[in-house]
Amino acid sequence: MSTRVTFAFIAIALIFGLGACATPGAAYVPGTYVGVGKGHGGELKVAVTVSPRQILKIEVLSNDETAVLGDSAFEELSRRVIAANSAEVEVVSGASSSSEGFLAAVSAALAQAGFKGGAAKAAAAVRAPAKAYDVIVVGGGGAGLSAANEAALAGASVVVFEKMGVLGGNTVRATGGMNAAGTKHQAARGIADSPELFFKDTMKGGYDKNDPALVKILSEKAVESLDWIESMGGDLSDVSRSGGASVNRIHLPAGGSKAGPEIVKTLKKAAEAKSGIAVFTEAKVLEILVDKAGAARGVRVAIGGREHSVAAKAVVLAAGGFGANEEMLVRLNPALKGFATTNHSGATGDGILLAEKIGAALVDMKEIQTHPTYAPGKEMVTEAVRGNGAILVDHKGLRFGNEMRTRDVVSAAILGLPEKTAYLVFDTSVRKSLKAIEDYVKMGIVVEAASPAELAAKIGVDPAALAATIERYNGFVAAKADADFARPDMPRALSVGPYHAIEVTPAVHHTMGGVKIDTATRVVSTKGTPIPGLFAAGEVTGGVHGGNRLGGNALADIVTFGRIAGKNAAALAKK
Ligand code: FAD
Ligand code: FUM
Repeated sequence: MSTRVTFAFIAIALIFGLGACATPGAAYVPGTYVGVGKGHGGELKVAVTVSPRQILKIEVLSNDETAVLGDSAFEELSRRVIAANSAEVEVVSGASSSSEGFLAAVSAALAQAGFKGGAAKAAAAVRAPAKAYDVIVVGGGGAGLSAANEAALAGASVVVFEKMGVLGGNTVRATGGMNAAGTKHQAARGIADSPELFFKDTMKGGYDKNDPALVKILSEKAVESLDWIESMGGDLSDVSRSGGASVNRIHLPAGGSKAGPEIVKTLKKAAEAKSGIAVFTEAKVLEILVDKAGAARGVRVAIGGREHSVAAKAVVLAAGGFGANEEMLVRLNPALKGFATTNHSGATGDGILLAEKIGAALVDMKEIQTHPTYAPGKEMVTEAVRGNGAILVDHKGLRFGNEMRTRDVVSAAILGLPEKTAYLVFDTSVRKSLKAIEDYVKMGIVVEAASPAELAAKIGVDPAALAATIERYNGFVAAKADADFARPDMPRALSVGPYHAIEVTPAVHHTMGGVKIDTATRVVSTKGTPIPGLFAAGEVTGGVHGGNRLGGNALADIVTFGRIAGKNAAALAKK
């Protein structure tokens, strides 16, 4: 995968103490230089153009990081490097290993330009927000960006406050896709689905603890949400299967690229194209301001070491869940002590705590989901690998259940194994069906071998057992019936070498509980009435997913309810 992105900014840095180069007193030999660094997802190559005294332009030539982070981190870092005229700038919070890779690549390019060190750093200019907006959106993930776009479309002035250095939150990590029933992409594949079946699967998956009124909206409106993303240039045209779904319903970009970066990129671009949306990163909301009647009237936000009170006619909380807040997780479920998380470090539940402080009711807070296939210490491996045909085997090389059960059940099955880890096993046809797998290969978490027996030897499993497991499974695929575990969907035989394995274990993934909302996304107080001026959408809320979220339902949730929140917040502001 390769992207070309150019970031050019007007240089404002003052330079002093520069080392000698071709031009007397110069810091650099003018020209364009290529440098390479290593980030979270693999290699990063940049071209840096310099004048004798100034870094002028940074171009990302090849980039294995984009799938994980979007271009936002590099855009922000380029701004910082050019403003400081130095690669010695702060990393972007939430993207530290990618930042380090980028800055190493820039340093390598500058070294080739003859840079010996000593360029002065300019103080970064810190923007300040206006005193008031129609709508304040707290959190720049998928729910927040959906809300911001809709609110601006309805004519509201909007500000998004995002506490991390980049937009995207957990949304940009999303991989497997977005659920929607009755889409044109399903129709093109002859998949018969309906909002009713989607509703049924979601309620069953959530053990009927979900709020049915919210699930009705989700199951009916997700198709419009998907069309909306595609109308803005996004691609969600591939369709796969996720655990607990009766049919193929989870949509992702053609070829099986990651869905989250596609959605964030699309929403971000649409927001940038509108004049009415101001976006602040590294802007942490500390408090929701209320008037004497208890209505939300703005927020207190910290930006660049200064606190601002910003007024608004409506506030949309879209600050995500708490899957990275170990203290909160363990307090609610002590069994989660020591678990890793698939979440970004900013998923600390701030929005829930801020809303609780002003009287919001919370629901389902103890409902916390683990994802069964996390490569220890590295990365969540998408359910789409199983959806596209992979099997799970234990350390004896044997399958231990239907791989397409809901993730709580599959997690429990893996934790029931003596080693508490299992192996995802797949062939080259599965790999070719899902571009996301290439990222796992680049990360070094995939073991590859020419045959099942060779693969087994590499991962320390009995070769004869693994070969027999795969042969038996391929027989079930041919017979269209899994005689061992009744797996409902077996899209392909595992018969094309080389073969692959990834060791996996469960990790905290989704927090189903949160702020209580009504069908208009108004935050409901502990007294059972809406808190005037306060809306919420996405993982900060509870009720949509009940006791267990189905794969693909969060992206459907955040876009659908984010849009409703944005529209309703703007309507209130315009009253
Ligand atoms: P987020 O995207 O997390 O955005 C919330 C934002 O608010 C964050 O950027 C955060 O930094 C910011 N914020 C928090 N506190 C503050 C504050 N005080 N001030 C300002 N900003 C603040 N779901 C699917 O349906 N399909 C998938 O394929 C899928 N894959 C996933 C893969 C991974 C690895 C993970 C972790 C999750 C996945 N999910 C998936 C779940 C889904 O991505 C999330 O539930 C969803 O994106 C949450 O969106 P959100 O907008 O509510 O929150
Ligand atoms: O496995 C995944 O791609 C995750 C999907 C989800 O959380 O919905």
